[in-house]
Amino acid sequence: MPAQLISGTQLSQHLREDIARRAAALTAQGKQPGLAVILVGEDPASQVYVRNKVKACGDAGFHSVLEKYDATMAQADLLARIDALNRDPAIHGILVQMPLPKHIDANKVIEAISTRKDVDGFSVLSAGELMTGLPGFRPCTPYGCMKMIESTGVPIKGKHAVVIGRSNTVGKPMALLLLQANATVTICHSNTPDLALHTRQADIVVAAVGRRNTLTADMVKPGAIVIDVGMNRDDQGKLCGDVDFSAVQQVAGWITPVPGGVGPMTITMLLVNTLESAERI
Ligand code: GUN
Repeated sequence: MPAQLISGTQLSQHLREDIARRAAALTAQGKQPGLAVILVGEDPASQVYVRNKVKACGDAGFHSVLEKYDATMAQADLLARIDALNRDPAIHGILVQMPLPKHIDANKVIEAISTRKDVDGFSVLSAGELMTGLPGFRPCTPYGCMKMIESTGVPIKGKHAVVIGRSNTVGKPMALLLLQANATVTICHSNTPDLALHTRQADIVVAAVGRRNTLTADMVKPGAIVIDVGMNRDDQGKLCGDVDFSAVQQVAGWITPVPGGVGPMTITMLLVNTLESAERI
Protein backbone atom coordinates (compact mmCIF):
# COMPACT_ATOMS: atom_id res chain seq x y z
CA MET A 1 0.00 0.00 0.00
CA PRO A 2 1.51 3.38 -0.94
CA ALA A 3 2.34 5.87 1.80
CA GLN A 4 -0.19 8.36 3.11
CA LEU A 5 0.58 11.90 2.01
CA ILE A 6 1.27 14.52 4.69
CA SER A 7 0.08 17.64 2.90
CA GLY A 8 1.78 20.79 4.15
CA THR A 9 -0.68 22.81 2.11
CA GLN A 10 -3.70 21.27 3.87
CA LEU A 11 -2.18 21.31 7.35
CA SER A 12 -1.12 24.94 6.82
CA GLN A 13 -4.60 25.93 5.72
CA HIS A 14 -6.04 24.42 8.89
CA LEU A 15 -3.43 26.08 11.16
CA ARG A 16 -3.69 29.43 9.37
CA GLU A 17 -7.44 29.59 10.04
CA ASP A 18 -6.68 29.48 13.76
CA ILE A 19 -3.80 31.96 13.35
CA ALA A 20 -6.10 34.42 11.53
CA ARG A 21 -8.70 34.13 14.31
CA ARG A 22 -6.10 34.85 17.00
CA ALA A 23 -4.66 37.73 14.93
CA ALA A 24 -8.12 39.28 14.58
CA ALA A 25 -8.61 39.08 18.37
CA LEU A 26 -5.28 40.87 18.92
CA THR A 27 -6.08 43.47 16.29
CA ALA A 28 -9.38 44.18 18.06
CA GLN A 29 -7.30 44.99 21.17
CA GLY A 30 -5.09 47.34 19.13
CA LYS A 31 -2.21 44.85 18.91
CA GLN A 32 -2.20 43.71 15.28
CA PRO A 33 0.71 41.26 14.81
CA GLY A 34 3.44 42.80 12.66
CA LEU A 35 6.34 41.24 10.75
CA ALA A 36 9.24 43.05 9.09
CA VAL A 37 11.00 41.20 6.27
CA ILE A 38 14.35 42.48 5.00
CA LEU A 39 15.87 41.35 1.71
CA VAL A 40 19.34 42.49 0.68
CA GLY A 41 20.26 41.77 -2.94
CA GLU A 42 18.45 40.17 -5.85
CA ASP A 43 18.74 36.41 -5.24
CA PRO A 44 15.77 35.06 -7.30
CA ALA A 45 14.82 32.29 -4.84
CA SER A 46 14.93 34.74 -1.92
CA GLN A 47 12.67 37.15 -3.83
CA VAL A 48 10.05 34.39 -4.14
CA TYR A 49 10.41 33.39 -0.47
CA VAL A 50 9.98 36.94 0.87
CA ARG A 51 7.02 37.58 -1.42
CA ASN A 52 5.33 34.41 -0.12
CA LYS A 53 6.01 35.40 3.51
CA VAL A 54 4.56 38.89 3.07
CA LYS A 55 1.52 37.51 1.23
CA ALA A 56 0.90 34.98 4.03
CA CYS A 57 0.98 37.86 6.54
CA GLY A 58 -1.66 39.77 4.59
CA ASP A 59 -3.87 36.69 4.25
CA ALA A 60 -3.71 36.09 8.04
CA GLY A 61 -4.55 39.72 8.86
CA PHE A 62 -1.03 40.65 10.00
CA HIS A 63 0.67 43.97 9.41
CA SER A 64 3.85 43.49 7.39
CA VAL A 65 6.62 45.55 5.88
CA LEU A 66 9.00 44.40 3.18
CA GLU A 67 12.27 46.31 2.98
CA LYS A 68 14.35 45.58 -0.11
CA TYR A 69 17.91 46.85 -0.38
CA ASP A 70 20.61 46.82 -3.00
CA ALA A 71 23.28 44.10 -2.74
CA THR A 72 25.84 46.84 -2.06
CA MET A 73 24.10 47.96 1.17
CA ALA A 74 26.63 48.66 3.94
CA GLN A 75 26.47 46.40 6.99
CA ALA A 76 26.23 49.45 9.27
CA ASP A 77 23.12 50.64 7.41
CA LEU A 78 21.49 47.21 7.77
CA LEU A 79 22.27 47.16 11.51
CA ALA A 80 20.76 50.66 11.81
CA ARG A 81 17.53 49.46 10.13
CA ILE A 82 17.34 46.49 12.52
CA ASP A 83 17.87 48.82 15.46
CA ALA A 84 14.93 50.98 14.31
CA LEU A 85 12.69 47.91 13.85
CA ASN A 86 13.70 46.59 17.30
CA ARG A 87 12.21 49.79 18.75
CA ASP A 88 9.12 49.87 16.48
CA PRO A 89 6.06 48.86 18.59
CA ALA A 90 4.09 47.82 15.46
CA ILE A 91 6.70 45.13 14.69
CA HIS A 92 6.72 41.86 16.66
CA GLY A 93 8.97 39.83 14.38
CA ILE A 94 12.02 40.68 12.27
CA LEU A 95 13.24 38.36 9.52
CA VAL A 96 16.39 39.05 7.53
CA GLN A 97 16.30 36.75 4.52
CA MET A 98 19.39 34.57 4.11
CA PRO A 99 21.77 34.33 2.35
CA LEU A 100 23.19 37.84 2.75
CA PRO A 101 25.84 39.31 0.43
CA LYS A 102 29.37 38.17 1.33
CA HIS A 103 30.53 41.52 2.72
CA ILE A 104 27.87 41.32 5.45
CA ASP A 105 28.49 39.23 8.58
CA ALA A 106 25.27 37.19 8.93
CA ASN A 107 26.01 36.28 12.56
CA LYS A 108 26.35 39.93 13.51
CA VAL A 109 23.05 40.71 11.79
CA ILE A 110 21.21 37.84 13.48
CA GLU A 111 22.52 38.87 16.91
CA ALA A 112 21.43 42.48 16.27
CA ILE A 113 17.77 41.40 16.14
CA SER A 114 16.04 41.82 19.52
CA THR A 115 15.63 38.37 21.09
CA ARG A 116 11.94 39.26 21.64
CA LYS A 117 11.56 39.62 17.84
CA ASP A 118 13.78 36.73 16.65
CA VAL A 119 10.94 34.87 14.90
CA ASP A 120 13.40 32.89 12.75
CA GLY A 121 14.86 31.44 15.95
CA PHE A 122 18.38 31.79 14.51
CA SER A 123 20.04 33.69 17.38
CA VAL A 124 22.46 32.10 19.83
CA LEU A 125 19.97 32.73 22.64
CA SER A 126 17.11 31.02 20.76
CA ALA A 127 19.42 28.09 19.95
CA GLY A 128 20.35 27.83 23.64
CA GLU A 129 16.71 27.97 24.71
CA LEU A 130 15.93 25.09 22.36
CA MET A 131 18.93 23.08 23.58
CA THR A 132 18.03 23.50 27.24
CA GLY A 133 14.29 23.03 26.73
CA LEU A 134 13.38 26.60 27.72
CA PRO A 135 10.49 28.37 25.97
CA GLY A 136 11.59 30.49 23.01
CA PHE A 137 11.34 30.86 19.25
CA ARG A 138 11.92 27.57 17.41
CA PRO A 139 13.38 27.72 13.85
CA CYS A 140 10.41 27.63 11.49
CA THR A 141 11.38 24.75 9.17
CA PRO A 142 12.09 22.09 11.83
CA TYR A 143 9.15 23.40 13.89
CA GLY A 144 6.92 22.83 10.84
CA CYS A 145 8.39 19.35 10.35
CA MET A 146 7.44 18.48 13.94
CA LYS A 147 3.85 19.59 13.30
CA MET A 148 3.77 17.37 10.21
CA ILE A 149 5.09 14.35 12.13
CA GLU A 150 2.58 15.01 14.94
CA SER A 151 -0.24 15.21 12.37
CA THR A 152 0.21 11.49 11.58
CA GLY A 153 -0.96 10.62 15.10
CA VAL A 154 2.06 8.28 15.51
CA PRO A 155 3.63 8.86 18.95
CA ILE A 156 7.21 10.16 18.61
CA LYS A 157 8.21 8.92 22.07
CA GLY A 158 10.52 5.90 21.87
CA LYS A 159 10.87 6.05 18.07
CA HIS A 160 14.20 6.06 16.26
CA ALA A 161 14.55 9.26 14.21
CA VAL A 162 17.33 9.83 11.69
CA VAL A 163 18.07 13.39 10.57
CA ILE A 164 20.17 13.73 7.42
CA GLY A 165 21.90 17.12 7.52
CA ARG A 166 23.46 19.16 10.31
CA SER A 167 22.80 22.80 9.43
CA ASN A 168 22.15 25.32 12.19
CA THR A 169 18.82 26.23 10.58
CA VAL A 170 17.38 22.74 9.99
CA GLY A 171 19.40 19.62 10.88
CA LYS A 172 20.60 20.51 14.38
CA PRO A 173 17.36 22.12 15.65
CA MET A 174 15.37 19.26 14.07
CA ALA A 175 17.40 16.72 16.05
CA LEU A 176 16.88 18.71 19.27
CA LEU A 177 13.11 18.97 18.74
CA LEU A 178 12.86 15.21 18.14
CA LEU A 179 15.01 14.58 21.21
CA GLN A 180 12.75 16.83 23.27
CA ALA A 181 9.81 14.70 22.06
CA ASN A 182 11.63 11.62 23.46
CA ALA A 183 12.79 10.07 20.19
CA THR A 184 16.17 8.35 19.94
CA VAL A 185 17.98 10.56 17.45
CA THR A 186 20.80 9.92 14.99
CA ILE A 187 22.28 12.79 12.98
CA CYS A 188 23.87 11.79 9.65
CA HIS A 189 25.86 14.08 7.36
CA SER A 190 28.25 14.21 4.41
CA ASN A 191 30.94 12.29 6.34
CA THR A 192 28.64 9.45 7.44
CA PRO A 193 30.17 6.37 5.75
CA ASP A 194 27.03 4.22 5.37
CA LEU A 195 23.94 6.41 5.37
CA ALA A 196 21.58 3.54 4.46
CA LEU A 197 22.71 1.55 7.51
CA HIS A 198 21.17 4.27 9.69
CA THR A 199 18.11 5.22 7.65
CA ARG A 200 16.98 1.57 7.32
CA GLN A 201 16.56 1.46 11.11
CA ALA A 202 14.60 4.71 11.28
CA ASP A 203 10.91 5.04 12.15
CA ILE A 204 11.20 8.72 11.19
CA VAL A 205 13.58 10.10 8.54
CA VAL A 206 14.07 13.83 7.96
CA ALA A 207 16.08 14.59 4.81
CA ALA A 208 17.61 18.07 4.87
CA VAL A 209 20.63 17.89 2.61
CA GLY A 210 19.86 19.87 -0.55
CA ARG A 211 20.68 17.04 -2.98
CA ARG A 212 18.03 15.11 -4.89
CA ASN A 213 17.71 11.32 -4.59
CA THR A 214 19.64 11.33 -1.29
CA LEU A 215 17.02 8.96 0.14
CA THR A 216 16.03 6.06 -2.12
CA ALA A 217 13.49 3.28 -1.54
CA ASP A 218 16.09 0.67 -0.49
CA MET A 219 17.13 3.00 2.38
CA VAL A 220 13.69 3.20 3.99
CA LYS A 221 12.12 0.89 6.58
CA PRO A 222 8.59 -0.17 5.53
CA GLY A 223 5.98 2.06 7.20
CA ALA A 224 8.43 4.86 8.17
CA ILE A 225 7.52 8.54 8.30
CA VAL A 226 9.56 10.41 5.67
CA ILE A 227 9.89 14.20 5.83
CA ASP A 228 11.53 15.90 2.84
CA VAL A 229 13.02 19.34 3.50
CA GLY A 230 14.90 19.49 0.18
CA MET A 231 14.22 22.12 -2.50
CA ASN A 232 16.03 21.09 -5.67
CA ARG A 233 15.42 21.01 -9.43
CA ASP A 234 15.36 17.82 -11.50
CA ASP A 235 16.75 17.52 -15.04
CA GLN A 236 13.52 18.97 -16.43
CA GLY A 237 13.81 21.96 -14.11
CA LYS A 238 10.89 20.76 -11.98
CA LEU A 239 10.98 21.35 -8.21
CA CYS A 240 11.92 18.23 -6.25
CA GLY A 241 13.14 17.32 -2.77
CA ASP A 242 15.95 15.16 -1.37
CA VAL A 243 13.79 12.03 -1.51
CA ASP A 244 13.15 9.80 -4.53
CA PHE A 245 9.44 10.43 -4.00
CA SER A 246 7.77 7.99 -6.41
CA ALA A 247 9.84 4.99 -5.25
CA VAL A 248 9.95 5.84 -1.50
CA GLN A 249 6.17 6.37 -1.57
CA GLN A 250 5.82 2.61 -2.21
CA VAL A 251 7.72 1.73 1.00
CA ALA A 252 7.05 4.49 3.55
CA GLY A 253 3.97 4.76 5.75
CA TRP A 254 3.78 8.54 5.46
CA ILE A 255 5.61 10.97 3.17
CA THR A 256 5.67 14.72 2.51
CA PRO A 257 5.51 15.95 -1.10
CA VAL A 258 7.68 18.65 -2.72
CA PRO A 259 6.20 21.12 -3.47
CA GLY A 260 3.27 21.35 -1.04
CA GLY A 261 5.05 19.78 1.94
CA VAL A 262 7.53 21.45 4.26
CA GLY A 263 7.63 24.75 2.28
CA PRO A 264 4.18 26.05 3.28
CA MET A 265 4.69 24.79 6.85
CA THR A 266 7.84 26.92 7.23
CA ILE A 267 5.80 30.04 6.49
CA THR A 268 2.98 28.88 8.75
CA MET A 269 5.36 28.51 11.70
CA LEU A 270 6.78 31.96 10.97
CA LEU A 271 3.22 33.26 11.39
CA VAL A 272 2.87 31.27 14.64
CA ASN A 273 6.11 32.73 16.04
CA THR A 274 5.12 36.27 15.05
CA LEU A 275 1.61 35.84 16.50
CA GLU A 276 2.96 34.48 19.79
CA SER A 277 5.46 37.34 19.94
CA ALA A 278 2.56 39.81 19.59
CA GLU A 279 0.47 37.93 22.17
CA ARG A 280 3.38 38.17 24.65
CA ILE A 281 3.71 41.95 24.43
N1 GUN B 1 16.63 31.49 3.72
C1 GUN B 1 16.14 30.25 3.47
N2 GUN B 1 15.29 29.88 4.45
C2 GUN B 1 15.26 30.90 5.34
C3 GUN B 1 14.55 31.11 6.56
O1 GUN B 1 13.80 30.27 7.05
N3 GUN B 1 14.78 32.30 7.16
C4 GUN B 1 15.61 33.23 6.67
N4 GUN B 1 15.78 34.36 7.34
N5 GUN B 1 16.28 33.07 5.54
C5 GUN B 1 16.10 31.91 4.88
